[in-house]
Amino acid sequence: MSRLKLGVVGAGAWGRNHVRTVATLPDAELTAVCDRDPKVRERVARQYPVTHVTGELVDLLARVDAVIVAAPATTHAQLALQCIAAGKPCLVEKPFALSVRDAEAVARSSAERKVPVAAGHLLVFHPAVERLRALVRQGELGKIFYLYGLRVNLGQVRADENALWSFGPHDVSMALYLLDDQPIRVAAQGRSYLQPGVEDVVFLTMEFASGVLAHVQLSWLDPHKERKLTVVGAKKMVVFDDMEPREKLRIYDKGVDRPPEYGSYGESLAIREGDIFIPKIPNIEPLAAELGHFVRVARDGEAPRADVTDGVRVVRVLEAATRSLAAGGTPVSL
Ligand SMILES: NC(=O)c1ccc[n+]([C@@H]2O[C@H](COP(=O)([O-])OP(=O)(O)OC[C@H]3O[C@@H](n4cnc5c(N)ncnc54)[C@H](O)[C@@H]3O)[C@@H](O)[C@H]2O)c1
Repeated sequence: MSRLKLGVVGAGAWGRNHVRTVATLPDAELTAVCDRDPKVRERVARQYPVTHVTGELVDLLARVDAVIVAAPATTHAQLALQCIAAGKPCLVEKPFALSVRDAEAVARSSAERKVPVAAGHLLVFHPAVERLRALVRQGELGKIFYLYGLRVNLGQVRADENALWSFGPHDVSMALYLLDDQPIRVAAQGRSYLQPGVEDVVFLTMEFASGVLAHVQLSWLDPHKERKLTVVGAKKMVVFDDMEPREKLRIYDKGVDRPPEYGSYGESLAIREGDIFIPKIPNIEPLAAELGHFVRVARDGEAPRADVTDGVRVVRVLEAATRSLAAGGTPVSL
């Protein structure tokens, strides 16, 4: 089978990782890169002399079979619509769009033109997240009670996105994927300490009809670098720590049991402190897995693991959270 001709739009801080990864894919070739910035084009042309480097999207679209959109968030919906209009499957980096309206326009156009579009929800390709999802689905953890995520560091302060839109897509997409559900209500509080109107820290809470509560702390103004998710179930609890080089997942056989018979009320709940199990997780780079999958979507018609519906769902949560933020944390129903 011939190799898929891939194009990358936007080769900045993150897009360069797409460029690098595409260049290593066995089933695709880095055919073209499009970037507005001449300095970025110069760098890419130097590193990848056989790749066509351009500043014009139409030029890229004429040469490739499929496109990765890794330009800034403000451009995502428009660029995706242009790719679809040209009949080119595309993977749209997170956030999928900056409004539900834009996200739905992309979803509609993708359905009408029958051009597959994937949402760049990277963490659903993380092998530890896949394992965690299997544990949830197989009932290994029992009924899920709640989960909470921590995505904080002292890092790139963005002016065009706040911490919610910059970091939130990761944790929201991961929560929806793990629970296979969408929240019914969200609430968010945050503060802009460094730039007016751009929240550096956001505390987001999602409520699900099942009773599950999910909380996420997002910040680029924090002394620690944390990428952690804790899932608490009735039978077991799991911690996914992406900062751990190897032992990313820990399954705690811990919980609170209700013995069938007990004497006093105080004995009705018994703490169970069992073993801690560390499963072996394959050492696969999530970005390589995501792009390998996208090649199969674009070339073989495989269904995207994170599709336009997932893109719209995550944007819907972020948009509702933005309304809640503006209202000082008042819960917003979805
Ligand atoms: N999945 C992840 O883990 C992850 C991580 C970081 C960033 N991102 C996302 O990737 C996207 C890009 O982020 P970044 O940090 O690389 O930003 P960046 O500003 O460093 O790079 C963006 C690049 O796009 C170019 N560009 C702007 N408008 C363009 C247009 N219309 N056509 C072509 N090129 C254009 C710019 O010249 C720049 O080189 C953002 O949506 C961001 O949220 C995803």
